Amino acid sequence: MRAQGFQTLELRGVGRRFGRHSALRGLNLSIQQGEFIALLGPSGCGKSTALNCLAGLVPLTWGSIWMDGERFDQVPCEKRGFGMVFQNYALFPHLTVRGNVAFGLRMRKLPKAEIRARTQEAIRTVRLLDQADKLPGQLSGGQQQRVAIARSIVLEPAVMLMDEPLSNLDAKLRLEMRTEIRQMHQALGLTTVYVTHDQEEALSLADRLVVLRDGLVQQIGTPEDLHHRPATWHVADFMGFRNLFRLKVDRRAEHGNTVTLRGNGLELDATAVGSLSAGDTVVVGIRPEDVVVEPPGNLSEPVGEPGSWARTGRAPTGTVLDARVQVVEFTGREFAVQVRIGDEVALHLRTPQRLVAGDPTRVQLPVHRMLAFPEEVESGSSPWVGAPTSHGRGTGSPKESEVGPGPGTGSGAGTGSGARPGSGEQPGSGARPGSEAVSQ
Ligand SMILES: Nc1ncnc2c1ncn2[C@@H]1O[C@H](COP(=O)(O)OP(=O)(O)OP(=O)(O)O)[C@@H](O)[C@H]1O
Ligand SMILES: [Mg+2]
Repeated sequence: MRAQGFQTLELRGVGRRFGRHSALRGLNLSIQQGEFIALLGPSGCGKSTALNCLAGLVPLTWGSIWMDGERFDQVPCEKRGFGMVFQNYALFPHLTVRGNVAFGLRMRKLPKAEIRARTQEAIRTVRLLDQADKLPGQLSGGQQQRVAIARSIVLEPAVMLMDEPLSNLDAKLRLEMRTEIRQMHQALGLTTVYVTHDQEEALSLADRLVVLRDGLVQQIGTPEDLHHRPATWHVADFMGFRNLFRLKVDRRAEHGNTVTLRGNGLELDATAVGSLSAGDTVVVGIRPEDVVVEPPGNLSEPVGEPGSWARTGRAPTGTVLDARVQVVEFTGREFAVQVRIGDEVALHLRTPQRLVAGDPTRVQLPVHRMLAFPEEVESGSSPWVGAPTSHGRGTGSPKESEVGPGPGTGSGAGTGSGARPGSGEQPGSGARPGSEAVSQ
């Protein structure tokens, strides 16, 4: 069973408004045959809207969709040849597994022998042959979801669209199904667009991720791009930068992109993402696993100047701060620890060291792991200029005339060009940092 051939599916400035609310704006994305794309973002950011636009379930307000250079957004939903799998499996309760899977083929009035053979093959692919004569009510959630997938793949879709297909399953099943979905994608040569709000799921499944926020693209890139070079602090927030603080730029190093930040009784060095000047408010972030805890033996020495690690004779690689341990949670291989730094700022870290709540400790924040982002996202090119990026296989920017009134005009953000912030030409299109994500 192979998906039908096409080379490129291209969304140009795709947007959708519901009443006065723009659910999706200026989505530029070029999907190559065989790619696994994940649409990622918080609830309400426009993921399902994007998928439904692609499926033809909702008409576009702006932009256009093209398949191999042919206009595609006016093709009716049922003629697109796309398979869809939703969060709720929506199986026919009175039909057996076999009946559910065969349903679409019967509707197409295919010869009986072909229906039988293709149904059998699809059920075998999702490893449900031993359950084929059961009704959906007699199956587990994971099995039902596999029936829903079999029902889609049996139609040999050109593109498989999945909207949070695993969110109803328990953690263990989710992991198993995740692997199965990826295996099936590869084995059947599918092109998959997969909606999730689970960052880990998206990173593990997708060749490229599209991070959305408030209907706007924040970044499009490979899992490595997003993990190592988040374009905005919102993306960083999604990518595990649990420690995010709002501080001010005190000064910029003469060379390189190190900035010294101040605020909340802290002074620390960070790597600037994008152009920052003295006085700018930034959101600075570091992952808990990147915080270094000093070995207990060093604690008798006084803390060095920020930006130095002088006591140990090492090169200055990060800011050293005194801290007090607040909460220690055992997580199996290591401890998840919350410490206080500065004026009561909470910092999360992970360490194999057995720290004790209430004790003093000392942490180092490696400067290359401490990323300082502009508080507001600006339009323009990648903030990671000069940094190596693993590019997707984009086809260049869309023509402005095709983009419509949504933002994203000419930024190419959606064409697989690596890290770029959502273009912010429109009022309200820049990222508004919600205080919920940032410790003060
Ligand atoms: N049919 C509709 N009518 C009016 N508003 C809608 C409609 N569909 C979506 N919206 C709005 O558009 C925005 C984006 O919705 P969408 O369903 O795309 O979000 P999502 O990213 O899929 O969220 P979730 O993770 O919660 O499923 C939301 O503010 C939502 O309320
Ligand atoms: Mg949704």
